[in-house]
Amino acid sequence: MKIKENDFGVLSNGKKVKIWTLSAGDLKLSLSSYGAAWTSLIVPSRNGIKDDILLGYSGLDGYLNNGPYIGVTVGRFANRIKDASFEIMGMRHALNANDGVNSLHSGPRGFDKLLWKSEAYEENEGVYVRFELDSPDGDCGFPGQMKAVVNYGLTKSNEVICDYQAKVDKPCPINLTNHAYFNLAGEGNGNILNHDVVLYSSSYVQVDKTGIPTGNIVPVDGTIFDFRKRRKIFLGGSFLKPFRGYDHCFAVDGERGKLRPCAEVHEEDTGRSMAVFTSQPGVQFYTGNFLKNAAGKHGSVYGKHSGFCLETQHYPDTPNQKGFPSCTAAPGKDYHEKAVFKFDVG
Ligand code: GLA
Repeated sequence: MKIKENDFGVLSNGKKVKIWTLSAGDLKLSLSSYGAAWTSLIVPSRNGIKDDILLGYSGLDGYLNNGPYIGVTVGRFANRIKDASFEIMGMRHALNANDGVNSLHSGPRGFDKLLWKSEAYEENEGVYVRFELDSPDGDCGFPGQMKAVVNYGLTKSNEVICDYQAKVDKPCPINLTNHAYFNLAGEGNGNILNHDVVLYSSSYVQVDKTGIPTGNIVPVDGTIFDFRKRRKIFLGGSFLKPFRGYDHCFAVDGERGKLRPCAEVHEEDTGRSMAVFTSQPGVQFYTGNFLKNAAGKHGSVYGKHSGFCLETQHYPDTPNQKGFPSCTAAPGKDYHEKAVFKFDVG
């Protein structure tokens, strides 16, 4: 196992951005301290060809202008909050709208656009980077001070480990996730529509045309949301039209709070497979619908569907939905969630 630290660049305030590269098992993962972003993940194919399976940019500049949230850590609250506002303890809190009247990924300046403190370490069977952020009272409109600690690592058994923790000094809804875009054929290598997908979800979070939950968690049975048996990503049909593809939160089967199977994705030509596990109630399956010729790594151009995301998370708009599993952290009640992405070839 190996840990490497390099300079990624300098911000206009003179602060240095680091890029860490972790090696363990057959994988190599690079992480930037700006946005606590996953910048590359090298995975061998069935024939031993090492490709980078993460969409991203060649340098820091790309991450400073990262409209599609490629690779970043999203917080305090990933996904949408209706009317950019919510009430907690009898107080209404206004966020910044950046998706029509709603807020998406905490508004125009979420955790994805901040420089995190970072430090690498080795533990048991893996190598990790610990990212830390202090978010002041009122940050993006959220109540109370919050300290976020996110650990990303690689194990000898070809797993990417994610551990999300937060402490608050006032009750506040928290939803931390990573917004990596995967293409198991290699970034820049066509679209992901030929990937085979399994989602361990018997139901999904029904949304209106703006992606805001109706409050209903509906069965996938007999719908285009049924991925319980391995199948290709099929975008036909009028139902997905307003979203331009999948951009939906699936309710992960099994006991919430426990790490359990969430998804499996397989790419036939390279033999690469990824299995995802999460402790969170849901996963946003997003098929890169809004990618529009983004200038990616080393000359790659990312068009619509050139990557997919599996953002393990709490359901969208949880702060306004009394019926959804709570994601409110409070003094003495820390937020703690985990996810694992395990890779295999064959
Ligand atoms: C999430 C949202 C999508 C889109 C992407 C970023 O997945 O659900 O609608 O905003 O982030 O482009």
